[in-house]
Order: sequence, then C-alpha cells, then structure tokens
Amino acid sequence: MSDTNPVPGSLPRSTGTRSEAESPAAPPLLSIQGLVKDFGGLRAVNHCSFDVARGSITGLIGPNGAGKTTLFSLVSGFYRPDEGRVFLDGEDVTGLPSHLIFRKGLSRTFQIPREHKSMTVMENLMLVPKGQLGERFWNPVFRPGAVRAQERQLREKAREVLDFVELSHMADQPAGAMSGGQKKLLELARTLMADPKIVLLDEPGAGVNPTLMGKIREKIEQLNRERGITFLLIEHDMPLVMGLCDPVVVMNQGSKLVSGPPAVVRTDPRVLEAYLGGQYGALEG
Ligand SMILES: Nc1ncnc2c1ncn2[C@@H]1O[C@H](COP(=O)(O)OP(=O)(O)OP(=O)(O)O)[C@@H](O)[C@H]1O
Ligand SMILES: [Mg+2]
Repeated sequence: MSDTNPVPGSLPRSTGTRSEAESPAAPPLLSIQGLVKDFGGLRAVNHCSFDVARGSITGLIGPNGAGKTTLFSLVSGFYRPDEGRVFLDGEDVTGLPSHLIFRKGLSRTFQIPREHKSMTVMENLMLVPKGQLGERFWNPVFRPGAVRAQERQLREKAREVLDFVELSHMADQPAGAMSGGQKKLLELARTLMADPKIVLLDEPGAGVNPTLMGKIREKIEQLNRERGITFLLIEHDMPLVMGLCDPVVVMNQGSKLVSGPPAVVRTDPRVLEAYLGGQYGALEG
C-alpha cells in the first residue's frame, strides 16, 4: 500500500469504520426496501430489500440479468421505482433526481464508463459537481470573482483526486485515449469529487488487467479505511468480491436471495443453484 497519495478531501471522517459495530440508534447508511422495476412485461427488480451498513464494503453479486445494475439505477435516482423506498442516512430519497442524490452523498459508476471522449481527463472531472456557481447564467456576469474562485477550487479538487488515483500524467489527455482500466479509475475519481458518503461501483474490475485491478482494490480499501467511505460494489470476479467485501448480497431474478459473510455465501446451496445449477461445491474465491 503506498502512502504517497493521500486520500482526497480534508474533512474529518465522520462515518465510522467497517470494524465499528453499527449503533442501534443509527440507521443503516443505505436502506433498500421492497424495490420493484418493470420494463414493459419484464420485471427487472422484484421486491428487493437489503441494508448497507455504514463503513462497510458490501458486495452485490448475482448471475447476468439478475437486476443488479437496474437496482443501482433505482437507488441513485436514474430510474424511478414502480414500488418500494430508498433511504439514505435515514432520509427518504425515493424518486429524487440523480443530481440531488449525488449531492446528498451517494455517487455511482456505470458498468460501461461514460467519459466524454473528446474532453480532457481534467475537464471530465470538473464537470462533476452540479449547481456550481458558474452554471447559473447570472453568476458569470454579476459575480465573476466568485465564479473564478469556484473554478479554482474545482480544479484543485480534480488535481487532488487525479493524484489519488495516480492519473495525474493523463490530466491533459483526451479521456477517449485512456485504456479500459484507466477509464475505470477515472470513474472512481469522478465519484470522489463530491466527498461521497457511499459509492456504488458497477463492475470496477471488468476488462481491467490484474495489476490495475490491484490498484483499484487498494484505492477502495484506502478510501474505506481512511475516509470511512462506504462501498456497495457489483462484481463478477469472485476472488475479488470474496477478498474485499463483507457482507456479500446475492441477487437472483430481481430479488435478494441471500446475504452474509463471503465464506458462508460462497458455499450456500441456493447461491450455487442460482449461478451454476448446483454443479459445483463452492464459488471460487
Ligand atoms: N433499459 C432497459 N429496458 C428493458 N430491459 C432492461 C433495461 N435494463 C435492463 N433490462 C433487463 O432487466 C434485467 C436486469 O438487467 P440488469 O442490467 O439490471 O442485470 P445485471 O444483474 O446488472 O446483469 P449483468 O451482470 O449482466 O450486468 C435483464 O433482463 C435486462 O435485459
Ligand atoms: Mg449489470
């Protein structure tokens, strides 16, 4: 683990660590309650409920088409649920638009990175925080000083975040020129621009070489340990999930099938049945 890249953000941590027991009075950081999402005749998410404990790195696994990405879109405000509720830090955020949920401290990445290819890596990061002063049309006219100060702050934050993910050398390159793994790191960097309480990562390891994957894992662990950022991550790489996440939630056909410590989940017969038709004794990991 390198100590050369401090975790971005200067606020004192306030969200606990994964080893701290959740106090009975504190609500879970994220509570997913009975979510349903239909696409025409297809029910992608079917009365799905589970909590994500403050300070945890929670894994979300399940076969292709289980509804994991759709669940992320419901929780992060990209889709409206047909039924059910989402609570973030005890607050009902069901149906709020994604930029408001982002501002409340929940950010997500996409399964397929969504970088703006012709913009530089730095510009991609500076797009992130919504409601910045310069976006409001009257501000550049009446408050040019404030706008410049805000841009300076934003640029500093972007530099700090890029340094953390070790992409500073790419700052002025077009984002489209990055490798698949670097795009995943940029996605992670983007989630850090707003000092999130919880980050939802959709397959951070997909298409990433093992060296870069090791780096992404190290960054997740560092952010969790040093900043208390909670993670909920979807991943098909079983050794990664089993080594990084606790607990692990398994989705199947739109619902939560089981959840628990990785060692228990990977040998659960219901999980093996859902994944493999019960042919094997345990998921690798
Ligand atoms: N926008 C959409 N319109 C119609 N159907 C959709 C849409 N998004 C997802 N689906 C369907 O909903 C189901 C759940 O898809 P989802 O992408 O959430 O699964 P997933 O668990 O993320 O799968 P994977 O592991 O392959 O990424 C699938 O049957 C999928 O085809
Ligand atoms: Mg998916």
